[in-house]
Amino acid sequence: MILQASAPAPALALQPERPEDRPLVDALIARAFGPGRYAKSSERVREFAAFAPELSVCAWSGTRLLGCARMWRVRVGETPVTFLGPFAVEQGERNAGFGARLVARASEAAAAAGETHVVLVGDEAYFSRVGFSRAAGSAVTLPGPVDPRRVLVRALTPGAVALAGPIRPL
Ligand SMILES: CC(C)(COP(=O)(O)OP(=O)(O)OC[C@H]1O[C@@H](n2cnc3c(N)ncnc32)[C@H](O)[C@@H]1OP(=O)(O)O)[C@@H](O)C(=O)NCCC(=O)NCCS
Repeated sequence: MILQASAPAPALALQPERPEDRPLVDALIARAFGPGRYAKSSERVREFAAFAPELSVCAWSGTRLLGCARMWRVRVGETPVTFLGPFAVEQGERNAGFGARLVARASEAAAAAGETHVVLVGDEAYFSRVGFSRAAGSAVTLPGPVDPRRVLVRALTPGAVALAGPIRPL
């Protein structure tokens, strides 16, 4: 009997989100978060934020979408910032570092575009491992209720100003 080795999975490719990726990205987000995602305060932000597809990242293995990190442009007080989310990795592909690579690539793209901060709402236990920390006090507020311990910031430039104020349209 001849045993055939299965073909190795293609290497992970990180690419900006293209218009034609949208249905697959939306479906991945729906699987990862379920219908409750629309109740999140970060969804209220995304209702007025400017989507930044060139800073958003898709992780592909061949034609299979394994993960995504969407990026948006908003303002905190007077400071223009990028807002990250939704961020998801396909269930069976988690814990392999893909999420950390997505966040790193999205942050690099934002820094290369001259952005000074990435802001998100998420678990500090995860995002502290990829460069984020709590916004000082309750300095950064959202248009809806949010646990201030989940409002996290990553400064992209040394000496970036401390953020303070409501998240609002650019
Ligand atoms: C969060 C998510 C994107 C991480 O993707 P990933 O590719 O598994 O991430 P990484 O491989 O970089 O990191 C995995 C590690 O983070 C840990 N981790 C995952 N989610 C965590 C969380 N919410 N809090 C603390 N640690 C977490 C894992 O246990 C794992 O730990 P280990 O390295 O010690 O084993 C993925 O779990 C996911 O899609 N979850 C559902 C959607 C979601 O919650 N998105 C974030 C909303 S802000």
